[in-house]
Amino acid sequence: MVRARTRWAAALIFFLLASAAWSQAATKQDKKSDIESRVNELLKRMTLEEKAGQLNQILFDESNVDAAIGQGSVGSVVNATGAEQVNRLQHIAVDKSRLHIPILFAYDVIHGYRTIFPVPLALAATWNPQAVERMARISAKEASAAGIRWTFSPMVDIARDPRWGRIAEGSGEDTVLDSAMAAAYVRGYQGDDLSNPASIAACVKHFAGYGAAEGGRDYNSVDMSERQLRTVYLPPFKAALDAGAVTVMSSFNTLNGIPNTANPFTLRHVLKGEWNFHGFVVSDWRSIIELISHGVASDEQQASQEAITAGVDMDMIGGVYYKYLPDLVRTGVVPESVLDDAVRRILRIKFELGLFDHPYTDPRLEQRELLAPAHVEAARQVAQESMVLLKNDGALLPLSKTTKTIALIGPLADDQADLLGNWFGKGEAKDVVSIMEGIRAKLPADARLLHSRGVDVVGTSVEGIPDAVATAKQADVVVMVLGEKGAMSGEAASRAHLGLPGKQEELLQAIVATGKPVVLVLINGRPLTIQWAADHVPAILEAWLPGIQGGNAVADLLFGDADPSGKLPVTFPRTVGQVPLYYNHLNTGRPPGPKADKKYFSGYIDETYTPLFPFGYGLSYTSFQYSGLKLSGDQMENSGKIEVSVDVKNVGTRAGTEIVQLYVHDLVAPVAQPVEELKDFQRVKLAPGAAKTVTFTLHASQLAIWDRDMKFVTEPGKYTVTIGPNSAEGDTATFSVNR
Ligand code: GLC
Repeated sequence: MVRARTRWAAALIFFLLASAAWSQAATKQDKKSDIESRVNELLKRMTLEEKAGQLNQILFDESNVDAAIGQGSVGSVVNATGAEQVNRLQHIAVDKSRLHIPILFAYDVIHGYRTIFPVPLALAATWNPQAVERMARISAKEASAAGIRWTFSPMVDIARDPRWGRIAEGSGEDTVLDSAMAAAYVRGYQGDDLSNPASIAACVKHFAGYGAAEGGRDYNSVDMSERQLRTVYLPPFKAALDAGAVTVMSSFNTLNGIPNTANPFTLRHVLKGEWNFHGFVVSDWRSIIELISHGVASDEQQASQEAITAGVDMDMIGGVYYKYLPDLVRTGVVPESVLDDAVRRILRIKFELGLFDHPYTDPRLEQRELLAPAHVEAARQVAQESMVLLKNDGALLPLSKTTKTIALIGPLADDQADLLGNWFGKGEAKDVVSIMEGIRAKLPADARLLHSRGVDVVGTSVEGIPDAVATAKQADVVVMVLGEKGAMSGEAASRAHLGLPGKQEELLQAIVATGKPVVLVLINGRPLTIQWAADHVPAILEAWLPGIQGGNAVADLLFGDADPSGKLPVTFPRTVGQVPLYYNHLNTGRPPGPKADKKYFSGYIDETYTPLFPFGYGLSYTSFQYSGLKLSGDQMENSGKIEVSVDVKNVGTRAGTEIVQLYVHDLVAPVAQPVEELKDFQRVKLAPGAAKTVTFTLHASQLAIWDRDMKFVTEPGKYTVTIGPNSAEGDTATFSVNR
């Protein structure tokens, strides 16, 4: 009897769950079809000018917007912020324009709105998608409180070249890590309901291949095979779209000779065709007009025609769609259906955001949301997780809080503005906790914290070095804070040299020469070539551009109130001459390595081929031991999966978090495969002496490659799987995939 009742109960629960899921899906579908009919209804009533107006995004500056908005010639405004200002402009659109279509207000919320988090490259170093999702959700709550409902983020450009300043804005060199982060940003920004007033539309950028600019020079040409594009650069965009990203930004660069702002292959064939993307594409800043400079359009009219035909739906700041599209349609050069498709896509997102139903922002929210204590605390935690311990000889770190005298030396030691990074929204330097402030807060009143800048970040003066040396000599330990200014990475900030700028290296060498124990804290937006420091400084902490809580996070780690867990999302080369240098490279016919020919191998005669610090590398204050690598089988059908597990033990004296990484190598395939590729990773927090079996499920689909016929297939044959703490170490096992 009991069994029958249990069966009934189970059946009832199943029925209730199924009907709940069904009704949710039905509601979603109803909502979608309701939006489609509202879009079509509105479209029917629009003039050509009003249609072109929706494709027109203008830059907010006090003088030019009211009239344009009132006549319905503006679809979106960039850089208007603050609930009061945005509501005022929105009232003009809704009350005064003929069709009352609300404006979509956009802003670059890249790593925070007012609560500024570490730059995206640092966020990637957390290898913690949940932390990134939380950062994005907080950013959305703050930005939407200020009237912003669309951010130009996430930037998902794979970057293998640290000369390129925008390496700071993305998630590094690896496709799997970047894809995980891309999806996390989108989930955070858009939430599970885009019409929630606290949600903002994501914009995944820059489509595509922008990070492969020749010479690491921003905006420069990009040329690569379709196989390289699809294997390395496109998956993070697809991950963002699979997570629901509703807009995409085309990139400035040419891809194989065609500017991506006029590239039907990327925009129509891949994005809107293969991937069936229903959102809209916005150009980058005046990139439609730049088609003239690229030499693929003779004038603005042709540029407009090229871009709209290729699939760019909105003109960022160029003003040329509004100016030329009505006539291009009237004269039949551009079919009205092409214009209508672009308008439909934009109106669809405005409806999905709920802008027609609730176009205004509650002005009380800003006060509550911006710099809310919980947001600031989150910024501190994620900054702690983002920092990477590169060296800690003799366990110099963590420092004791009873240290009598600490010398803080370097041009970034008491800096605030540069810790904000390079695209810091409404962040303010006064919100930043400097490293000096963070350290001082850790020390008892009777401790001495000495300070000397030594040199500037850039510049040739060395006159401050003697004072810095004298200061160091008085201390028990020296903390040096060196690196780049925030603006030395990010857009239009490519560097031909990757060393410490200015005379910082000289300062470092002078301080190390005092014989005092030195801790080096790096503030930078890209990998730096710090060979001398790596050879001579006992402890090095990569702190990146850590945001408003950077000083506290550095101090938390230096004094052991938090344990370093970050891992490099990019390779650190020894010298700029090695660039591009990345971990998932091909083996070549003459691979370097222990068995290499003495001379005739793929290397250099004047430098080793190995990186200074490899992708995935990072130390902690404890040690982790890997053992017992096991596979659930040594065969896998090419639609199957295998379980891979390893035992990880904390063999040190402090708790710690390890990021366990799983890499695969396809030993033989019709197309040469990388020596290893990250396929998965897991964060494991372990108390001293504790151990955990970490298990991954590896699916055959994760092994798929673009074969000689450009089919995406999982090849039969032998593979190795390696699990370890970074891309250069780990235990390896072999398995096969059968046909
Ligand atoms: C810039 C950048 C892009 C940014 C846009 C709006 O030039 O390339 O990433 O979102 O313009 O500021």
